[in-house]
Amino acid sequence: MTATPGEAPVRDDLLAVRELRQGSDNAVPLVLLHGFPVDSRMWDAAAAEAPGERAILAVDLPGLGGSAGFPLPSPPSLDDAADAVARTLADRGVESAVVAGLSMGGYVALALLERHPGLVAGLGLLDTKATADDDDARANRLRIADAVEMAGAVEEVLPMGGTLLGESTRASRPTLADTLTAWIAGQRPEGVAWSQRAMAARPDRSGLLAGFQGPALVLVGDEDQVTPPAVAEAMAEALAASQFVVVVRSGHMTAVEDPSAVGAALGDLAQRVDALVEQG
Ligand code: MLT
Repeated sequence: MTATPGEAPVRDDLLAVRELRQGSDNAVPLVLLHGFPVDSRMWDAAAAEAPGERAILAVDLPGLGGSAGFPLPSPPSLDDAADAVARTLADRGVESAVVAGLSMGGYVALALLERHPGLVAGLGLLDTKATADDDDARANRLRIADAVEMAGAVEEVLPMGGTLLGESTRASRPTLADTLTAWIAGQRPEGVAWSQRAMAARPDRSGLLAGFQGPALVLVGDEDQVTPPAVAEAMAEALAASQFVVVVRSGHMTAVEDPSAVGAALGDLAQRVDALVEQG
C-alpha cells in the first residue's frame, strides 16, 4: 500500500488509481471514491482493515490527488467525474464492482449508478446524501470556488481539516486534523474549485435509490454534521437491500476516524455481493 497519491495515468482521459490490495479472481473488486477536498489517501487505513482478498482500487477524482492534471471538463459536472471513473475502470478490465463513496465520492457513486448501472454490483454510501444542494449551499460552494480560484490557493478550505472530523475525534486524536489539513493543502486550487462547482450542479438523485436491487450499505458517523444520521437513515430505508451502520464517536470522515468499523462494513457489503454472484 502506498502512502502518496497515485501517479498520474499515461492517458489523459483516465484517472489515477491506487491499487490498495490485489485481489483473487472470484471476488468482485471494491472501488473507493473519496470525499472533498482530499484524495484517495483517505481510504488507506479503512482498506487495510477490510477483510478478504478482493482487489481494492482507490480512485483520485478529477483535479485531485494523482488526478490533479486530469483535463477538467467545462462546465464542471459530477456526471463527467462518473464517466471518467467508468472509463478508467473499463481500461483496467473492471466491468462490475462494489462501488463505495464517501460524501462527494457518494455523489459520484450515485452518478455512476445512474449513468453506468451495469458497473455497480454493490453500493456503499458513506456520510453522503442523495439530494441536491439548496440555494444557500449552492451559493456558498460557488463563493468558495471563486475565492480559491482568485487566490490560486486552497486556504479557504483548509479549516475543513478540522471541521469534517467529529468532536470526539478532535478531542481524542487531535493530530488527525493535521493529517487531513496536510492532504487538503496539497490539492490543486483548480481541482478544488472545479469539485465545488461540480457538486453545486449535481441533481437530486434520491429517486434512484428505490430502483437499486443490489446489496447496499449506508454508513454514517453519529457526529456527522455535514450529512447527519437522519439523512443516511432515510437513504437506507429507500434502498431495497441495505445495511444501515452508525459509527459511534465519529464525524463526517468515518473512513479516517474509525477505519476498522468502516473496513469491516465494506468487507460485509462486498461479501454480500460475492454471495449473490456465486448464486448466479
Ligand atoms: C465531502 O466530504 O466530500 C464534502 O463534505 C461534500 C460536500 O461538501 O457536500
